[in-house]
Amino acid sequence: MKNEKLKSIVSEALEGIKKALKLDEINELRNRFLGKKSELSSLGGLIATLPVEEKKTFGIEMNEAKQLISQAFEEKLNALKQKALEEKLKKETIDISLPSREVSLGARNPFYIVQDEMKEIFIGMGFDVADGPEIETDLYNFELLNIPKDHPARDMQDTFYIDENTLLRTHTSPVQARTMEKMNGKPIRIICPGKTYRRDDDDATHSHQFAQIEGLVIDKDINIGHLKATLELFAKKMFGEKREIRLRSSYFPFTEPSVEVDITCANCGGKGCNMCKGTGYIEILGGGMVHPNVLKMNGYDPEVYSGFAFGIGIERVAILRYGIDDIRKFYNNDVRFLHQFKKKD
Ligand code: DAH
Repeated sequence: MKNEKLKSIVSEALEGIKKALKLDEINELRNRFLGKKSELSSLGGLIATLPVEEKKTFGIEMNEAKQLISQAFEEKLNALKQKALEEKLKKETIDISLPSREVSLGARNPFYIVQDEMKEIFIGMGFDVADGPEIETDLYNFELLNIPKDHPARDMQDTFYIDENTLLRTHTSPVQARTMEKMNGKPIRIICPGKTYRRDDDDATHSHQFAQIEGLVIDKDINIGHLKATLELFAKKMFGEKREIRLRSSYFPFTEPSVEVDITCANCGGKGCNMCKGTGYIEILGGGMVHPNVLKMNGYDPEVYSGFAFGIGIERVAILRYGIDDIRKFYNNDVRFLHQFKKKD
């Protein structure tokens, strides 16, 4: 650049831009050096008065000067923006080393942990899950299960009556009758988990509300071997491969023969201890072969079909599984109890 005037304008502008620290100052400088009333602009007006041979060089130098100044502005603006951004980021940094506030996760009630496990075991053996009402009629809860009115077996299952024929079910067994009615003579393989009620005074081993899982299999050629194998597999899956089961003969009006099923005590392995009261076994459920009367009353020909059934107390299984000493703990929702069943990660 030869023109002294242009040279000095450019160097003055570059100097100013270099020193500027704020956006306002930059804008002001831009106006001063490149605006309509700037020196450059008025110099531009002089072009017309120059001799022809100087016009071209002056024009070129004029553009060069404008370009130099604009470029300096751009660079400075970018630098300022970058700096502002860096400062903002610095101010907003999060200290990730700070411990977060504790998020307290709840725990599942062990009742539901065990109920789900029991369901999974039976589903794995090909059972479907059936359902039935908790408010039942005398017909399904008793009569269709071979427990007629005035039958002494009713005494063991006193419950809450809504009217003479409507009651809170005393067991999940009425779902047997309901399923047979629905399946109308076809083979059955179901379990039914659910709440049951009895007029018991609550203590460590009794609760007016508790839960059972009912099981029912009906088909041709079903025998007691099927019942034993099914319950043995259940016991081993639920309580461990080393557990043995034993069937003791018992009585239920809706099965013949009826059995009570014990497992070897986990505490002593069958030798006899306090927990199993010296017997080496602990009772876990009741079952048997479906009584011919029950089959007949519910539309199945006992000459063609046979079946087995069982009823397992869910709390009882959970109590044995976790060594819980009081059935009421499942219902009180004391967090000190529940939090012992928190999932560990
Ligand atoms: N319903 C019986 C009870 O609550 C338990 C039971 C026993 C269920 C034998 C059955 C069974 O299905 O076959 O005491």
